[in-house]
Amino acid sequence: MKPVIDVLEQRISRVLSSVTEQPDAAALVKTATDPRFGDYQVNGVMAAAKRLKTNPRQLAEKVIEELDLSDICQTPEIAGPGFINLRLKPEYLAEKLLEINADTTHVGIDKTGGPKRMVVDFSCPNIAKQMHVGHLRSTILGDALCRILQFEGHTVIRQNHIGDWGTQFGMLIAYLKQTSPEIIERPDSVHIADLEQFYRNAKARCDADRDFAALSRQEVVNLHEGNPETLNIWRHIVDESREHYQPVYDTLEVNLNQDNERGESFYADRLAGLVEELKGKGLAVESDGAMCVFPEGFVSKEGQPLPFIVQKSDGAFLYATTDLAALKFRIDELKADHIVYVTDARQKLHFEMLFATARLAGWVPEHVALAHVTFGTVLGEDNRPLKTRSGENIKLRDLLNEAVQRARTVVEEKNPQLDEDRKTDIARAVGIGAVKYADYCNNRTSDYVFSFDKMLAMDGNTAPYMQYAYARVKSIERKAAGKDVDIQSELSGIATLNLTEPAELDLARHLIRYGEVIANAMADYRPNYLTTFLYELAQKFSGFYNACPVLDANAQSRPTRLLLCDLTARTIAHGLGELLGIRVVEQM
Ligand code: ARG
Repeated sequence: MKPVIDVLEQRISRVLSSVTEQPDAAALVKTATDPRFGDYQVNGVMAAAKRLKTNPRQLAEKVIEELDLSDICQTPEIAGPGFINLRLKPEYLAEKLLEINADTTHVGIDKTGGPKRMVVDFSCPNIAKQMHVGHLRSTILGDALCRILQFEGHTVIRQNHIGDWGTQFGMLIAYLKQTSPEIIERPDSVHIADLEQFYRNAKARCDADRDFAALSRQEVVNLHEGNPETLNIWRHIVDESREHYQPVYDTLEVNLNQDNERGESFYADRLAGLVEELKGKGLAVESDGAMCVFPEGFVSKEGQPLPFIVQKSDGAFLYATTDLAALKFRIDELKADHIVYVTDARQKLHFEMLFATARLAGWVPEHVALAHVTFGTVLGEDNRPLKTRSGENIKLRDLLNEAVQRARTVVEEKNPQLDEDRKTDIARAVGIGAVKYADYCNNRTSDYVFSFDKMLAMDGNTAPYMQYAYARVKSIERKAAGKDVDIQSELSGIATLNLTEPAELDLARHLIRYGEVIANAMADYRPNYLTTFLYELAQKFSGFYNACPVLDANAQSRPTRLLLCDLTARTIAHGLGELLGIRVVEQM
């Protein structure tokens, strides 16, 4: 079903255009959802009146006269200088709830009319380093966006642009050869237990030992020339790194695996040709020995044109060159018509210049959209970027383990009589869910403070609160059995509803807005719109459940109330579980 807000806007736009005899007046119509004013408040009449230099209230009256919304709303009301307030009819709400109920796979939400091929570039850890909390946001935000886009009906291609190429591999390979010479014959026999330590050791040796530094440089050359021995060791380092980050994805229940990997190395043999092409087009020019593109509009504080450097003076290619090659590949070969990059805000300039350069080069056809979805920093309780006490990056794995451990305490307090396996399972869902939810519910462009206490709180906009709300609805089903209420048969074939109590109506009005909220969230890639909606849903459900008996309701009300419970549970399970990848549990 189409979101009601879209239906209302369409009809009102048509009337406003015809009443004012101005076709473009339709563009002025904006509708907001606000229970304080009725269900929806329409804006736009005032702006149209101003244009025509007429009285806005009178214009609003004319609009209302022409407007036929009788199948959806009660009589519209004019408020203030010319707002139109609309209140949905209970019959309409009932009809929509039944429509949602009948749609067992898609919670009543239409698939997009314009499906696209979407490439989403996210996570992208750098090989031979542990994933740290900085990678958390890209990984889970990217995963949620992919899930939602897929649900909307787009074809989603997940790309993990891992940092698996570059000069740092020279020292890592040289170091492995020195410390574990057996790697040359049998790479698989060498296991890298601690990536961070391994990287640090290699770096230390490189800084301290000139001969080693020379060997490292030689290994970079070997790598680029495709020396089989060097390549083998390189591949082994990549595989070992994957052993570290794949479990993190699995723990986070993020859909990423080796099939989604297309690392920087994949583009290595395309870079020279790409720079030649930029030179041929007169876009890449030499500046201080380096090859640079100067896209228009990018200047330094001093007003100097900013270079997008595609090749260093020593001939090496850079992050930027690889990103140009990747962008081209995604358009030409993956046939993307939309590419979304999820990285922290510090890369804003890089992506602006990347997009500008690719456009200058003529690599971005008209119909292709490019988006950089940025996010802020995860802070510690001291309001500085989250680090360990000794100032090191916190490893994601340690962080997630701690979350699960702490969640275990919460479960223990809440429900000590559950059996051990159950508790372990719930603690995992709650702990991981809490970390993810805390991230999603913050405005992605802001920094946020990472606090276990806050994210694991049972009240407030948190995962445990939402999971508990879900479990509470589900507990009604369990209680039903004890009261001899057969929910299945009461709900099967239900064809009419009896919505009368304010709390029932309030919950119903909220439930039918789910599709509208998803569309809003995706218009700017902001999952926090969705978490806010789910949180409000849980609160409205509470209000309803406190005001209206369900299992003990009379025969006239009970099926309606059972349906409200069921749709609430289905919506929470869908929003949390399917779209945000946060597991719900039946019991807590
Ligand atoms: N590996 C990079 C980093 O850790 C992120 C890559 C993002 N994606 C891209 N296509 N540049 O900073």
